[in-house]
Amino acid sequence: MAEIVIVPGEAEAGDLVADAIVDLIHRKPDAVLGLATGSTPLPIYRALAQRIRDESVDVRGVRGFALDEYVGLPAGHPESYRAVIRREVVEPLGLTPELVRVPNGDPAGIEHAGADYEAAIVAAGGVDLQILGIGRTGHIGFNEPGSSLASLTRVKTLTEATRLDNARFFDSPDDVPMHCITQGIGTILRARHLVLLAFGEAKADAIAAAVEGAVSAAQPGSAIQLHPHVTVLVDEAAASKFENLAYYRHAWANKPAWQGI
Ligand code: F6R
Repeated sequence: MAEIVIVPGEAEAGDLVADAIVDLIHRKPDAVLGLATGSTPLPIYRALAQRIRDESVDVRGVRGFALDEYVGLPAGHPESYRAVIRREVVEPLGLTPELVRVPNGDPAGIEHAGADYEAAIVAAGGVDLQILGIGRTGHIGFNEPGSSLASLTRVKTLTEATRLDNARFFDSPDDVPMHCITQGIGTILRARHLVLLAFGEAKADAIAAAVEGAVSAAQPGSAIQLHPHVTVLVDEAAASKFENLAYYRHAWANKPAWQGI
C-alpha cells in the first residue's frame, strides 16, 4: 500500500519531499528527478531551492525529466512546459539546463517524440523520484481516464475538464492546446519512488479513488496501487473522502524513526 501522509498544509508537504530529494542527491549526485508542472508541486520546488541555497547542495549533476508538454504551442510560449520547467525548476534550483528534458511538443516529428523520450529516460537509468499531481479527472501526467495502464510516452487528447482547469494559465480556455505529449502510466510506474500530492477539496474525490478505489484505466491515478514505493501527501481537505483516514494517521504517527518517506 502507498504511505498516506496527511499534512497541515502545502508547505509541510514541500518540506518533507524536499528532505527526501536532498537525501537522494547526497546518496546519488546524478539523481534523476521526474518533474511535474501545475500548481501542486510548487511548494516542493520552493522548499528545495531554499535547502539547496542554505546547505550549498551540489546539484550540478542532477538530471530531470518533465512528465508532459502541450503539443503545438509556439517555441518560447511562456506556458509551454519547457518554459515552465525552466522558470520554476531549473533556474530557482540551479540545475544544469542541458540535463533537464521535456517531451518535444513540436508537431514536426511528433510521431517519434514519444519513443525518443522513452529512450532518453532508459539511457539515464530511469527516474529515481517522480513527483506527481492529480487532475480532477483522475489523471496523472496527462493520462486521462481510459489511458492504458501499460502506456508509454505518446500524444493524448486532453479532456475538456482538464482544458478548463488549465485555462487559468492562458488568456482564454480556447487557447489551451487540445493535445499533449505525456509520459504513459507504464512510464510513470517504472520510476523507483512515486510521490503524489493533492491539496484542496477539489482533489478529494480523485485522490480517494486513486488510493482506495479499484485499479482501473477509468481512474488513472489508481495505477499507483501497482507500485511498491509510493508516498501520497495530502492536506486535510484533500484527505476528506478517505475511508481509512484514521489508519493512515495511525500508521504515520507510529512510523519507525529509521524509515524515510
Ligand atoms: C502536470 C501534470 C498534471 C498535473 C495535474 C494537477 O505536469 O502532469 O497531471 O499534476 O493536472 O494540476 P495542478 O497541480 O495544477 O492542480
